[in-house]
Amino acid sequence: MARHASLAQAQELDWREGRVPVSRRFDDPYYSLQDGLAETRHVFLAGNGLPGRFRPGFHVAELGFGTGLNLLASLQAWRESGQAGRLRFTSFEAYPMAPAEMVRAQAGFAALEGVARELAPHWGKPRILLDDLDFELVEGDARARLPVWPGRADAWFLDGFSPAKNPELWGAELMAEVYAHTARAGTAATYTAAGAVRRGLAAAGFEVTRAPGHGRKRHMTRATKGAA
Ligand SMILES: C[S@@+](CC[C@H](N)C(=O)[O-])C[C@H]1O[C@@H](n2cnc3c(N)ncnc32)[C@H](O)[C@@H]1O
Repeated sequence: MARHASLAQAQELDWREGRVPVSRRFDDPYYSLQDGLAETRHVFLAGNGLPGRFRPGFHVAELGFGTGLNLLASLQAWRESGQAGRLRFTSFEAYPMAPAEMVRAQAGFAALEGVARELAPHWGKPRILLDDLDFELVEGDARARLPVWPGRADAWFLDGFSPAKNPELWGAELMAEVYAHTARAGTAATYTAAGAVRRGLAAAGFEVTRAPGHGRKRHMTRATKGAA
């Protein structure tokens, strides 16, 4: 726990309008100031063809766990789509937020109140096992942790801070690791349409397409791994 506490303290936050956390380390908000939940649903769920692709054993992986917003939105979508069994969700995070700050951020999303309340006692734990969720937090720099991760995800949420401010989470080598850890016919999605990110995904082997972005963002990126 002591290690968790010191890392959490290192993640100093400002709060925009009292409700959206902004990282001082990266000088960037954790999600859209307009409507983070709508952006999550558009970019990461719809961008990966979800909930339509959900099936038993489906595995989501994420770069950047942050406030847990994407996990909550995914679990809610999983439940609403009537899936049997557990959603697997693995997230990589170098600077975990303190549980109290996660709860404060999540309180901004009334539509997620039920799942947020249910998961609140579990924040800070590396694994959460419920009847319909198998969650794992892989703590540390994703550049070191992903290459040795034994899993393969059906859908990736690429959710680092903006590539300009958090380039280490978007490099071509890391995108190659994302590809290597993607199941056949798996996908990845991200809110950014930055050329370097798109090129990194394409060089890794993904088929990369541009899709309409959320809100004021014109474009986002979707990537697919061939079935061959
Ligand atoms: C935009 S936030 C993620 C928001 C999150 N998905 C949510 O639902 O709230 C980006 C996250 O990436 C993490 N991060 C930045 N660099 C990292 C690295 N090298 N390895 C792992 N995580 C990193 C940050 O600490 C931050 O939590």
